[in-house]
Amino acid sequence: MTPAAAARLYARAFHKSRPWQESEFEALIGDPQVILCGDAFAMVIARIVLDEAEILTLATNPDRRRQGLARAALQTCETQLRAHNVQSVFLEVGADNLAAQALYRGFGYIQAGKRANYYRRSDGVAVTALILRKDLAAN
Ligand SMILES: CC(C)(COP(=O)(O)OP(=O)(O)OC[C@H]1O[C@@H](n2cnc3c(N)ncnc32)[C@H](O)[C@@H]1OP(=O)(O)O)[C@@H](O)C(=O)NCCC(=O)NCCS
Repeated sequence: MTPAAAARLYARAFHKSRPWQESEFEALIGDPQVILCGDAFAMVIARIVLDEAEILTLATNPDRRRQGLARAALQTCETQLRAHNVQSVFLEVGADNLAAQALYRGFGYIQAGKRANYYRRSDGVAVTALILRKDLAAN
């Protein structure tokens, strides 16, 4: 997947947030500790630090939602993380993002904390972030 395709997908999926620039995706894709799974319709990006990983973003093109694309990309990502001996995965998700929360909970992610008013949407609304965690060794 090219940085340009990733930037396009991100902009379509996160229309209420600051877009990530193509150069940011270029840096991520070039980072050996970063895993990108998926394609131009759905992607997951995770960064590995020792035996932990953080999911940096997960996005599906709005025209292709509820077709199992994010589930497939996340499954592939977790398989790759296990191959890198990652034990725990963390991520942040908006408290108002019920679609993503349902996806993550279906994968066994549980809440480990929260950050009040962590996100600032483009309309100025502050949204709390939930910190989710999954023990890859146990699930
Ligand atoms: C969250 C998101 C990635 C889901 O992508 P998707 O490809 O539509 O998800 P899938 O089709 O793989 O869905 C897998 C499961 O997630 C849950 N889910 C997905 N979308 C949902 C929705 N709108 N409402 C409730 N549950 C939902 C369901 O459990 C679903 O399984 P089911 O279809 O068998 O019921 C997508 O809505 C998106 O890109 N949102 C904007 C970006 C975003 O919020 N990313 C997450 C940031 S942490």
